[in-house]
This record gives sequence, C-alpha cells and structure tokens, in this order.
Amino acid sequence: MLKIGHRGAMGYAPENTLKSFAIALEMGAPMIEIDVTQCATGEAVVIHDDRVDRTTDGEGYVSDLSLEVLKKLDAGEGERVPTLQETLDALSGKCELNVELKSERVVEEVVHVLKSAVANGSWQEDALIISSFDHHALRKFKEMMPAVRIAVLVGIIPLNYADIIGDLDAYAINPCVDFINAIFVTHAKAKGLKVFVYTVNHPEDINRMRTLGVDGIFTNYPDRL
Ligand code: G3P
Ligand code: MG
Repeated sequence: MLKIGHRGAMGYAPENTLKSFAIALEMGAPMIEIDVTQCATGEAVVIHDDRVDRTTDGEGYVSDLSLEVLKKLDAGEGERVPTLQETLDALSGKCELNVELKSERVVEEVVHVLKSAVANGSWQEDALIISSFDHHALRKFKEMMPAVRIAVLVGIIPLNYADIIGDLDAYAINPCVDFINAIFVTHAKAKGLKVFVYTVNHPEDINRMRTLGVDGIFTNYPDRL
C-alpha cells in the first residue's frame, strides 16, 4: 500500500511547507501530496485554503495577495508559503509528487511550470500525478499534458460508483476514508483504476484500508505504515 505524505507530513510540521516535505521524505514517503492555487501575481503557490488565515499569520484571499506579500507571511515555525517551482526544485529526484489543483484557474500556470521542469530534465512526467475535486480542471489539464497521470477526487460515494470519472482518462480515483467501502473498491478496480484514499491517520483505519485492498493512502503521519 503506497504511503502518500499528506501536505508533506502535516502531523509533524506546518502543512504544505518545505519543512513538512523534508520530514515526509525522512519518514520514507515515496510520494508527497501538495495543494496548489494561484496568487494575485499569477504564480502557482502551495497552500490548501482559499484564504491564508488558518495556516499563516496573515489574512485575506490568496487570489488577492501578490507573491511578494505572501512570502512575508509565517506559514508556521518560520516557514514560508512555497511556490510550486520551489517545491519541484526541493523534491526533484527524491519522490513522486501529487499536485492537487484547488481551482481550474491555476491549470495553465501549473502546466507552464511542470512543462519547463520536464523540459529541463528535473522531473519526469511519470513521477507526477495531478488530482482535483474539480473534474473540469482535470479535463483541462489532461488536454494540455496528456502523458501525466490524473486522479479523480471524490468526497462521496456516487450512485454510479467509479463511473463518475466519465470519459476522463484517469489513472486513479481517490475517495474519502469516511465513505470508502468494498463495493466502491471492487468497481474502481474493475475499471482498471488505482484507489488512493484520503486522509487515513488512525492505525485502525490504516489496517481497514489494507483489508479493503486499496492501492495507497494519504496520511498526515507517514511513519505509521
Ligand atoms: O488529495 C487528498 C486530499 O488532500 C484531498 O483533500 O482537502 O485535504 O486537499 P484536501
Ligand atoms: Mg489536498
């Protein structure tokens, strides 16, 4: 079962920071998940919420703040909000990366940054997975970088189970631990999809995921499996 460091190792360090990513690597996570959105000056930045309030000492919408202003904020323990570019530079050759798109708006900038990383040889396309709850964003991304794997996030168990992926050429479907069940896993696997479950932290839930036979889990505590 693949362990994916959720926002790095957010159980041990401020989420979505270079420090969090370094700890996830130390704990042997072969893949790290980050959340990416776009700030006012256009850069793709690594932060989960629409607003900076919860995870930094600032306030306001990320989309209203320039990178210069964002960079002055404390993202916890003196860490700064990283850009996607800084994250790619820090993790090149060290793990696979799951970039979760927090909006359709950020797709073009993410594609721009990833294409240049692939072109300069610092990242291989097959070391990347792009996920989103916005399935339209996934479609747009896939049209622009067809060789990169995409994963469809779902926060529910849809009536049509894994058929929710529609005609998206998806590699994986990523359901929520609160709703995952055996029928969903069987249906997804019959469609040839990997199943990566978020966010699995409790040891009993980790064992339950092993029993269900899922392919991987996102966890805040990469040292627990
Ligand atoms: O990609 C798994 C998980 O990160 C999705 O939910 O809200 O933690 O970004 P969220
Ligand atoms: Mg996420």
